[in-house]
Amino acid sequence: MEIEFVSRGPVEGEPLSAIAAPAFEGPTLTGGGEALDGVSGGALSRAFAGSRFTGAKGQTIDLIAPAGLHASRVVLVGAGPEGGLNDLSAEAIGASAYLAVRMSGVQTLELRLDDLPDDLAARAAYGARIAAYRFDRYRTRETPEKKPSVALVRVACADPAAALSAYEPLAALADAVAFARDLVSEPANILYPEEFGRRVKMLEALGLEVELLGEAQMAELGMGALLGVGQGSARESVLAVMVWKGAADPDAPPIAFVGKGVCFDTGGISIKPADGMEEMKTDMGGAAAVAGVMHALAGRKAKVNAVGVLGLVENMPSGEAIRPGDVLTSMSGQTIEVINTDAEGRLVLADALWYCQDRFKPRAMVDLATLTGAIIVALGHDFAGMFVNADPFAGELLAASAAEGELLWRMPLHAGYEKNIDSTIADTKNLAGRPGSSINAALFLKRFVGDLPWAHLDIAPVAWNHKSFGPTRPEGATGFGVRLLNRLVADQYEDKTAQ
Ligand code: BES
Ligand code: MN
Ligand code: ZN
Repeated sequence: MEIEFVSRGPVEGEPLSAIAAPAFEGPTLTGGGEALDGVSGGALSRAFAGSRFTGAKGQTIDLIAPAGLHASRVVLVGAGPEGGLNDLSAEAIGASAYLAVRMSGVQTLELRLDDLPDDLAARAAYGARIAAYRFDRYRTRETPEKKPSVALVRVACADPAAALSAYEPLAALADAVAFARDLVSEPANILYPEEFGRRVKMLEALGLEVELLGEAQMAELGMGALLGVGQGSARESVLAVMVWKGAADPDAPPIAFVGKGVCFDTGGISIKPADGMEEMKTDMGGAAAVAGVMHALAGRKAKVNAVGVLGLVENMPSGEAIRPGDVLTSMSGQTIEVINTDAEGRLVLADALWYCQDRFKPRAMVDLATLTGAIIVALGHDFAGMFVNADPFAGELLAASAAEGELLWRMPLHAGYEKNIDSTIADTKNLAGRPGSSINAALFLKRFVGDLPWAHLDIAPVAWNHKSFGPTRPEGATGFGVRLLNRLVADQYEDKTAQ
């Protein structure tokens, strides 16, 4: 799907096009909508009168072939209260308009955003991009009538050049979100650790440096925890290290992102029940988000130094697999008693986190992981759980979260539960009982993080949508974390002085 920005002009449209305009609560037409109403002899006002459309957020009203227009359709999109527009509601306008006509047969969607500030016109275009994502690589028998028809979104706005320059970094972000969603959508027979590594290696074209460490190199580094998880798999484990140097000083300490990349989680010898196990192809959602945010930073040439470390493994049962009761020695030197081989994410992260801080001495570090089922029970599917060791860093993350609509809820890193994860045979154990198990998991990770601002995001609830949760949250892979961390960097970690 292409995006273009044009000056507002006549509103007649063209055959096979749809024209969309926002309407505020009332409903009150915007400038673009008023013009459409005029040209069509008041068709829009009459449509309001005969409907329940109030202009509330999320509503749309679809008029087919209105007189006076060449366009095949007109769509009015509820924009909520006048004056209440922000980035997220502008995205929802673009996404709702796109979804209203996606399958209709029209090829061009013209968004009449005549009265919106140019940066919000850009956000609306970005919303349409996010809504248009679909993963159809393996649908070989889909006839053209079943595919989306819209090939072009044309945004009519006050200053197209200004809107386009506001859109450029958002286009880089949309590409990055799609990259992360593709990784999560791919089945595990296609996307195993080495293939994941190859896909991130291709991002060198954007100016990133990408190193891939295999099992021999990790063994030399002493990564017995990560390697232990991968040991039952026929696939080689990989640690991918992505480096972006965009700050004026290439040696300035980076912000670091670490991702759980379990390409498939069977549970290992502590095997999972069959029901729903296919979803465990998404157990690399943390690594996908980290790859995605590095893609976004490089794509928009962010003025920041950043690193991404991905622990890529497959958790399989076999004669070679680790057993419950085994003791692993991590790169940090700490020994870990494996109580349950299905609590594998924390074993992978133990070495990935330690390696990251040891090598890069980051300013701050964020890990993302589909770590526990318990966090879904606690928070439902609207929030990821956030565990942070520093209040100011928590504040930065919550601000980025609110701005991008990727919601976080802070959970306690409660020192009183530390004893839960002490082992009787080793330094620590990978599982305690069910009470507070997401907290215990976070406390386990904390043992592999030194004295730096660090946040653990348990994204198990939000990596995959079983159904759509609104126009900008479609069914399937979400890419959760890419937008959040891109915003964190933009607002808090980029060089502010122009170069
Ligand atoms: N990958 C799972 C967590 C998960 C569950 C992610 C559901 C997404 C959806 C993790 O490795 C796991 O298996 N956790 C277990 C731990 C158990 C052994 C205590 C869990 O949460 O059930
Ligand atoms: Mn598991
Ligand atoms: Zn897992």
